[in-house]
Amino acid sequence: MAKHILLIIGGGIAAYKSLFLIRVLARRGIKSTVILTKGGSEFVTALSAGGLSGEKVYTDLFDLTAEAEMGHIELSRSADLVVVAPATADLMAKAAHGIANDLATTTLLATDKRTLYAPAMNVRMWDNPATQRNMKLLQKDGALFIGPDEGEMACGEFGHGRMAEPEAIADTIEKILKGDTTLDGLRGPKPLKGKKALITAGPTREPIDPVRYLSNHSSGKQGYAIAAALGRLGAEVTLVSGPVAIDPPACAKLVKVETARDMLAACEAAMPADIFVSVAAVADWRTDGCAEIKIKKGKSGIPALKLVENPDILASIATAENRPELVIGFAAETNDVIKHAKAKLSKKQCDWIVANDVSGDVMGGDHNSLIVVTKGGEEVFPKLTKTDAARRLAEKIAAELT
Ligand code: CTP
Repeated sequence: MAKHILLIIGGGIAAYKSLFLIRVLARRGIKSTVILTKGGSEFVTALSAGGLSGEKVYTDLFDLTAEAEMGHIELSRSADLVVVAPATADLMAKAAHGIANDLATTTLLATDKRTLYAPAMNVRMWDNPATQRNMKLLQKDGALFIGPDEGEMACGEFGHGRMAEPEAIADTIEKILKGDTTLDGLRGPKPLKGKKALITAGPTREPIDPVRYLSNHSSGKQGYAIAAALGRLGAEVTLVSGPVAIDPPACAKLVKVETARDMLAACEAAMPADIFVSVAAVADWRTDGCAEIKIKKGKSGIPALKLVENPDILASIATAENRPELVIGFAAETNDVIKHAKAKLSKKQCDWIVANDVSGDVMGGDHNSLIVVTKGGEEVFPKLTKTDAARRLAEKIAAELT
């Protein structure tokens, strides 16, 4: 499905760049719905924004026609990402304090989506402690920032205050929408700075002969998203991954493995770590030896596979001498999810088990419904995209360790 952003154009001279942004995004297949603030409409017109986006432009909170078509709450939830560009000092201040006195600020307060701010203002306004304080408050609430860039400004002064260029904002939007949370150039809180995180992801492959193997349907999406989310919060991430078809987050050091035994060796080599998240769908069994040449049909009938148990990577790391401070396992279950998760928590001696019900289309799909089972109780996450679930888990990890 085509991706879709909600673009709030604030009142600044940089508003004209946001018109370019709409075009750049459209060329990349990303649709923009525009909210034009009163200030924004002093710089660009709803007609030009609407012409470029091919969509109705929303301007007024109390526009009954617009409310009938799409209420402001619905508008705030309709997109995959909310982008504020240019983000003025005024918009940032209002959003930071939950003031909602027009359509843009009401939408920012009502949205359940990530928000990316591209600030643009005079350098003194940007440097003012009030603006810096507001940025930090917004970041603390999970908002992302790109820019402002340094350079000459429309007012003639020089310094930080120019809105990031549309291509750069579009690159960042694409990264966010793809779930890549490395987000170079973005400011954000880094509560896990100085912490090392080790993540396993994807399936393992256990060879039968040189051309055949035993494996499972794991796509690696959830593990990769967790690696990215921890990296975004400042952790130094090693991602030990079985064979998958997705790109690794740029922030992680990727170690590619095939078998469960390789995965365990790679994890041990990557220790010590402060956080271990065992997301991999490790094959529980491997064949008792891999045939050196391809097993041929016919001669001796159907071959019987003798299986032996693979090492339990999670249990090994959880009981290692240099055990990470926080050890998190996953429990893929199709029934009695919490009961099984609790049993795994004690059996594998980990601190949390993240239970997920894989009875539906979770494996390979883009959504997950997670329940974090800890010794103290359970936290149920709503059904979220794997990226959002990863972000929420990473934030919980950060809260635990800081
Ligand atoms: N795990 C592991 N090494 C294994 C098997 C599992 O590290 N050999 C980890 C997984 O990464 C996951 C957790 O253990 O974090 C639970 O995996 P799961 O397959 O749900 O549990 P199993 O221990 O295999 O038990 P069962 O298949 O009987 O449910």
